[in-house]
Amino acid sequence: MSEIGTDARPLRLLLVEDNPGDARLLQEELRDMPSVRCEVTHVTRLSEAVRVVQGAAVDAVLLDLSLPDGHGLGNIPPLLQAAPAVPLVVLTGTDDERLAVRAVHEGAQDYLVKGQVSGPLLVRALRYAIERKRVEEGLKREEAARRTAAFREQFLGILGHDLRNPLQAISGNAALLLRHAGLSEPQRKAINRISISADRMARMINDLLDFTRTRLGAGYVLERARMNLHEVLRQVVEELEVAHAERQFELRLTGNGWGDWDADRIAQAASNLVGNAVQYSPEDSVVRVTMADAEVGVRLEVHNRGLPIPSERLTTIFDPFMRAQEQRGVKRNGLGLGLYITHEIVRAHGGTLGVTSTEQDGTLFWVYLPRQYPGD
Ligand SMILES: Nc1ncnc2c1ncn2[C@@H]1O[C@H](COP(=O)(O)OP(=O)(O)O)[C@@H](O)[C@H]1O
Ligand SMILES: [Mg+2]
Repeated sequence: MSEIGTDARPLRLLLVEDNPGDARLLQEELRDMPSVRCEVTHVTRLSEAVRVVQGAAVDAVLLDLSLPDGHGLGNIPPLLQAAPAVPLVVLTGTDDERLAVRAVHEGAQDYLVKGQVSGPLLVRALRYAIERKRVEEGLKREEAARRTAAFREQFLGILGHDLRNPLQAISGNAALLLRHAGLSEPQRKAINRISISADRMARMINDLLDFTRTRLGAGYVLERARMNLHEVLRQVVEELEVAHAERQFELRLTGNGWGDWDADRIAQAASNLVGNAVQYSPEDSVVRVTMADAEVGVRLEVHNRGLPIPSERLTTIFDPFMRAQEQRGVKRNGLGLGLYITHEIVRAHGGTLGVTSTEQDGTLFWVYLPRQYPGD
């Protein structure tokens, strides 16, 4: 950063002083300092000062504590509210040193006693105020970042343990009961519903965990290893075939499936896309999954028929909690995080995720994945 107070970067000072004599004196003192170039805006009222700091960039404010429309320490809060990051130096009378100290407690960076202000003293006070404010703002930012991190940890803890553990107990015990012989048909059905709902909830919690990690943290940390995407896709489709026995899948795998990717994350992304294709298409239609070589990577496509995503939603469909349409009667399975998470996973791999969707051609999600990360 270039130093404030030079020709290239003059110090923009707001002088708030209603006494014409005092104001002239201060400006003359500043003019006599050839080492510092100042651009002074002079106002005589607090209300004007507030308007100036809101509307223009100001490096520092020199504030008289007795103004026609404000007196004493009460002058400080309105200015700080209007421009919290602007350094403040207050001007006080000769016998007001105690007031001056209190002004610093109120948020001013420094004070000057009228009648004792020389050019060098003024410049030093302004420079010091600017520097001190910069440090204070830096500390505030660090504190905010620390609080966000603490919040994230707390939130991840709630999701990861406090909610997931009892849910695992529900799932586990439902599975145990289902293995019991001698259940009546209504009992078996009820327990089965408990099990399905618990699994659905677990998926949503996992999505929220991923969302919290990516939004409040540094993003995904990938564990790359050599893997075969053909195998992953076969597995993803097989699992969905088991869950949706009535659906028809078409799997076309060509080219070379090997690459350096995070196998779990890639499986999660593929399963989100193929799962959506199943969920948002008519039961009697085909879901098509294709993969082929493309440039230095691979291209994966997932296609389905059915209601298209409206064109005005296509640009935001990868945003969190976004849905194409709020269909009434459609059972909502997820939170609208699947595509966001998929997009983050693809991006972390240096790839691209895109979509086209029309009534005529159906919906096609495509992923381009480089086999290796460009930076590796
Ligand atoms: N293959 C698809 N065909 C049509 N619409 C889709 C498809 N995939 C996603 N969508 C639309 O995009 C929305 C967001 O998808 P997603 O992020 O996976 O969230 P969720 O499935 O939890 O609603 C879905 O609610 C749906 O409206
Ligand atoms: Mg989904």
